[in-house]
Amino acid sequence: MNTALPNGLKVLDLFCCQGGAGMGYHLAGFDVTGIDLAPQPRYPFSFVQTDAIGFVREHGAEFDFIHASPPCQRYTLAQRIHHRDHPDLIGPTRAALEATGRPWVIENVEDAASELRSPVTLCAAAFGMRTYRHRLFETGGNFTLTQPRHRPHTAPLTKMGRPRAEGHFAHYVGNFSGVQEARTDMHVPWMNRDGIRECIPPAYTQHIGTALFASLLGVAA
Ligand SMILES: C[S@@+](CC[C@H](N)C(=O)[O-])C[C@H]1O[C@@H](n2cnc3c(N)ncnc32)[C@H](O)[C@@H]1O
Repeated sequence: MNTALPNGLKVLDLFCCQGGAGMGYHLAGFDVTGIDLAPQPRYPFSFVQTDAIGFVREHGAEFDFIHASPPCQRYTLAQRIHHRDHPDLIGPTRAALEATGRPWVIENVEDAASELRSPVTLCAAAFGMRTYRHRLFETGGNFTLTQPRHRPHTAPLTKMGRPRAEGHFAHYVGNFSGVQEARTDMHVPWMNRDGIRECIPPAYTQHIGTALFASLLGVAA
């Protein structure tokens, strides 16, 4: 997908980490501001270190679109097995987004599917990457996404911690090996391993940002 010219519209990137989501909106032409509780020296755009839900309650309506990637620890299988109790951030995030009156998206992992309302799933293979990395996107505020066709997964997966074998796909999670390869594959050259394991590939939000711009203009993407 080509990089769009700046369109003058502002995206708020909540729970931004190192900016995988933010980069996609930037490539789609939006002016991006990121919010994270932790310092994010690698984040490539304007950044405010603060609580995402407090910030969106106070400033969300000042933006044209809001993206939120609340941390997924509560929903992962490992956390359920170990009975670790992480707070539910999806519900409070949705309530705060709805109160802004702006269009929004909440992104999360497949383990959180039951918490999301009619989400659309994006798969990295559909964007030409050599990984699958499914992520779910719930939309609101009069913005909708169409579920793209999903092709069956046919490539074998390289085992965790091993270098990628020829023709195999990789899983960039945990302590995965091949940071440089992951940077190249997902187009996130500024990230370290911590950012890569958390991020969504910018191609996902470039796709969403392109659909959003078309919907704001009232034309088909
Ligand atoms: C899954 S990562 C987001 C990944 C990001 N969307 C990307 O594509 O690179 C979740 C982030 O939420 C941050 N976080 C956790 N609780 C937060 C809160 N209450 N307010 C703001 N950020 C928070 C974490 O520090 C972490 O960086």
